[in-house]
Amino acid sequence: MASQSAAEKRAAELREALEHHNYQYYVLDDPEVSDAEYDLLFRELQQLEAEHPDLVSAESPTQRVGATPLAAFQSVTHAVPMLSLNNAFTEEDIVNFDRRVREGLEKDVVNYSAEPKFDGLAISLRYENGLFVQGATRGDGYTGEDVTQNLRTMQSIPLKLRGKPPRVLEVRGEVLMFKRDFEALNQRQREAGGKEFVNPRNAAAGSLRQLDARMSASRPLRFMGYGIGACDGDFPGTHSALLDWLADLGIPVTRERVLVAGVDGLLDFYRRIGTRRAALPFDIDGVVYKVDDLRAQEQLGFVSRAPRFAIAHKFPAEEAITEVRDIDVQVGRTGALTPTARLKPVFVGGTTVSNATLHNEDEMRRKDIHIGDTVVVRRAGDVIPEVVRALPEKRPADARLFQMPTHCPICGSAVIRLPDEVVARCSGGLVCPAQRKQALLHFASRRAMDIEGLGEKIVDQLVDRNIVRTPSDLYHLGLATLAELERMGEKSAANLLAGIEGSKQTTLSRFIYALGIRNVGEATARDLARHFGSLDQLMTADEAALQQVSDVGPIVAESVRRFFSEQHNIEVIERLRAKPDGVRWDEHAPAAPKTEGAFAGKTFVLTGTLSNMSRDNARSLIESRGGKVSGSVSKKTHYVVAGDEAGSKLDRANELGVAVLNEEQLLALAEESSAKEPQEKQ
Ligand code: IVH
Repeated sequence: MASQSAAEKRAAELREALEHHNYQYYVLDDPEVSDAEYDLLFRELQQLEAEHPDLVSAESPTQRVGATPLAAFQSVTHAVPMLSLNNAFTEEDIVNFDRRVREGLEKDVVNYSAEPKFDGLAISLRYENGLFVQGATRGDGYTGEDVTQNLRTMQSIPLKLRGKPPRVLEVRGEVLMFKRDFEALNQRQREAGGKEFVNPRNAAAGSLRQLDARMSASRPLRFMGYGIGACDGDFPGTHSALLDWLADLGIPVTRERVLVAGVDGLLDFYRRIGTRRAALPFDIDGVVYKVDDLRAQEQLGFVSRAPRFAIAHKFPAEEAITEVRDIDVQVGRTGALTPTARLKPVFVGGTTVSNATLHNEDEMRRKDIHIGDTVVVRRAGDVIPEVVRALPEKRPADARLFQMPTHCPICGSAVIRLPDEVVARCSGGLVCPAQRKQALLHFASRRAMDIEGLGEKIVDQLVDRNIVRTPSDLYHLGLATLAELERMGEKSAANLLAGIEGSKQTTLSRFIYALGIRNVGEATARDLARHFGSLDQLMTADEAALQQVSDVGPIVAESVRRFFSEQHNIEVIERLRAKPDGVRWDEHAPAAPKTEGAFAGKTFVLTGTLSNMSRDNARSLIESRGGKVSGSVSKKTHYVVAGDEAGSKLDRANELGVAVLNEEQLLALAEESSAKEPQEKQ
């Protein structure tokens, strides 16, 4: 055995060598040694650490093997939110993006960094004093899941940064699987008789979200950095230099990026990378353009939840041709009947598609889709595949039209289609097993209560056997009942029970979202939680109080109020949160209404088309500053915001002498009254 000081010296040398080789391989893509040589060094270090356990430290390259499996992931609140990008599909969209940027910055030509849009999962890595301390998924952008253990197993994520990192640094990027690694993984799965993955993205997502980090360790995951979140030290002033700086710190960043001046350079990059897409080592679903100057990024800021300084230019969704074998309807959570085409299976957008949505009856008629037709189907990313159009020239003689049913195929209740709605709905409510199943699946879904292991097959059985009627019944399930279900043994039943138990500690916004209130998606649930602070405050709010919440208009307010006025909903909620063992979350005092600034208490009316922002964005800009948006102009209106082709509302404003703002003036007003929030640097 080596003496203590010799061992210490050798261990330090080996660590340095292993870190160096990782950097050469993952960051520079220029390995200096073979895998076998690397393994030899690695094993020597392992051996040394086994003999001298006091030499082991958390950031040693040997400490990447997963620890004991977790019962559930903890949630992590991002210090700086992980927001998303607006999408563009056409060259015109990009020309408009560049124009808005130039106008915003008052410049003739703007420099942009253009890079691939990685098709993986967004991740944030937190380094403190140069050491990797926490890694989290994006989640809803504000809170994600703590997947530190899984990320530690990935060789491409340095446990220790090189050079002189700032005291705190959050690196933002994507976890993905290289195509060749994906092929090899599937080959191994095939040989072992295991399940194959559909595409690299799913394989990466499934591998990263393993509660047992040893599973992640066995999967070839990669990390690519593309920006930073919190940082309490100096960093470069441009995005392109920021990525170089990250690479110097040991973070892999892509070399497939360019710095261009103006819109022509952007479109040129898009076309060039498009032709090389298949030859790239990883899947991309488009490119991302970012204003290069970080100060200019800050100046442009964000609208709603997306930056004005960056945009994703997506590749067109993939299309394929197949046959419609049948059409039937699916009953959703709110009873909506969606005509669905059952297709001859076809490979499109990275996966085999056998069902595609026809959206609704009017769409199906407009596209003139018959059973028996040859059709074009399209699938992009995670979006549900859709039937784009029929090829009538290939229509067989026996093709026939599908009639929407008058009664729900699941529960037999009448199907109702209101005169001004395109959607036909089953009127059975929670009597309808299909609606109940969907409501339960939504309740248990990842972004809602996140009940691990409660999938479709189990929910089907629980509802069909009348074991579970409402979400609160889930928390009263016993081991014996679950173990008797088909395809369930003692072990999976125990796991599911642990998943149910683990879901009890949640957040108010997840809980609100999980309730499945009509028109209340994740973002609205979060706004409601933030605004009211407690469930009781929300449950007793009237429509006027609800409309004080940013992004909540009359329709959402009415849905929320209606939901909480139904006795059976209240009963379910009370059973769910019954103490001492029920679902729980932290509450806080309601947010104080904004009483200061140019928007507070003022009523705005929007009319015409705004050139730089959508109506929704303008609304949230106003509401988040304490203003209200109304649909009609009256003497009580404080401002009318008029875009292009403003019509009668503008006339009315002039008649009544109401102040009229154009878009620039609205933004200027917002600028004056906005409080600075920390922003993600891209
Ligand atoms: S920058 C403020 N750069 O696309 C948001 N995102 O909709 C900054 N993505 O979830 C994101 N490649 O995970 C950025 N080169 C890239 C990216 C990228 C993929 C993903 C990202 C995010 C989504 C944005």
